[in-house]
Amino acid sequence: MAGKLMHTVQYDCYGGGVAGLKHVEVPIPTPGKDEVLLKLEATCLNAFDWKIQKGVTRPFIPCRFPYIPATDVAGVVQEVGPGVKNFKPGDEVVAMFYHFTGGGLAEYAVAKESLTVPRPPEISAAEGAGLPVASLTAHLALTQSAGIKLDGSGPRKNVLITAASGGVGHYAVQLAKLGNTHVTATCGARNVDFVKNLGADEVIDYKTPEGEALKSPSGQKYDAVIHCTTGIPWSVFEPNLTETGKVIDLTPGPSAMWTFAIKKLTFSKKQLVPFLLIPKKEGLDAVVKLAKEGKLKTAIDSKHPLSRADEAWTKCIDGHATGKIIVEP
Ligand SMILES: NC(=O)c1ccc[n+]([C@@H]2O[C@H](COP(=O)([O-])OP(=O)(O)OC[C@H]3O[C@@H](n4cnc5c(N)ncnc54)[C@H](OP(=O)(O)O)[C@@H]3O)[C@@H](O)[C@H]2O)c1
Repeated sequence: MAGKLMHTVQYDCYGGGVAGLKHVEVPIPTPGKDEVLLKLEATCLNAFDWKIQKGVTRPFIPCRFPYIPATDVAGVVQEVGPGVKNFKPGDEVVAMFYHFTGGGLAEYAVAKESLTVPRPPEISAAEGAGLPVASLTAHLALTQSAGIKLDGSGPRKNVLITAASGGVGHYAVQLAKLGNTHVTATCGARNVDFVKNLGADEVIDYKTPEGEALKSPSGQKYDAVIHCTTGIPWSVFEPNLTETGKVIDLTPGPSAMWTFAIKKLTFSKKQLVPFLLIPKKEGLDAVVKLAKEGKLKTAIDSKHPLSRADEAWTKCIDGHATGKIIVEP
């Protein structure tokens, strides 16, 4: 592939939103020692992708400009680096790129073997691309942070999932229901049936007084909250938690970090736990296996060709997707 060009969507500096995206032709990358070159079939956008462009991780991510955004992909292996052991040309895979380098809004990209897993035929490319960041986040927040055993062997726990219609939330509801849980979920009125169909036991419209107060209709107190949206203060969570309830906050702002510190310093049994995804291959294997077994489904909000990736970017910034936004080269 050396010397051949491919279509990408990239940006040259922080800020600019959709107007900052540029469609350009660049050389197809060459895989390094432990990398595979993929012809991409589908790329998924996550909220973090537009936040990087906005500058929330400045000056560490991106590590250089121009930057091709997006990290979650499905594709077909074209070439393998000399140190790659487990893949060969023609293999269908799901992969995640590091946010430092990005690379997903393109026709081709290189992935580390260490964050690449086979895509079984039961999972479409679009469904596979939806999985990495969002389902891994849901999986780790539930299992590691909230201590829920997904084989159902743990003690019964009441879980609240906010923004259950979104990318992370819709996976979190399905995964939580694999454990021994009662799930209360929040979403907008138009998505109540969607979230019930994912398995939630109770669903509250976040724009109603009950939704704003996060009150479970049956009066449950929560052992764990997987908090997938922003703008809800600790004072709203606090009265709804059990004695040892935890709020796992996926987007902790300054006030959440303050609450985290105060709760730690005062040895409070109720806690706020800031969450940061550290992706590992074992986790990716686990979610792909669950998807293969039909236990974890990707809801596709919309699909957009790479030539119209700008529409997908706008939709992602809007924050009203139901499930995952997919771009197809
Ligand atoms: N810490 C980490 O490592 C990590 C990893 C992954 C994601 N995240 C963060 O987690 C958050 C969620 O990501 P995502 O991909 O799931 O977002 P998303 O897909 O953009 O979420 C969109 C959904 O959220 C719903 N929603 C918005 N505000 C709501 C509210 N107040 N109550 C209930 N539902 C609400 C929307 O419903 P309507 O359309 O009805 O408004 C929409 O269906 C983002 O901030 C993301 O950056 C963090």
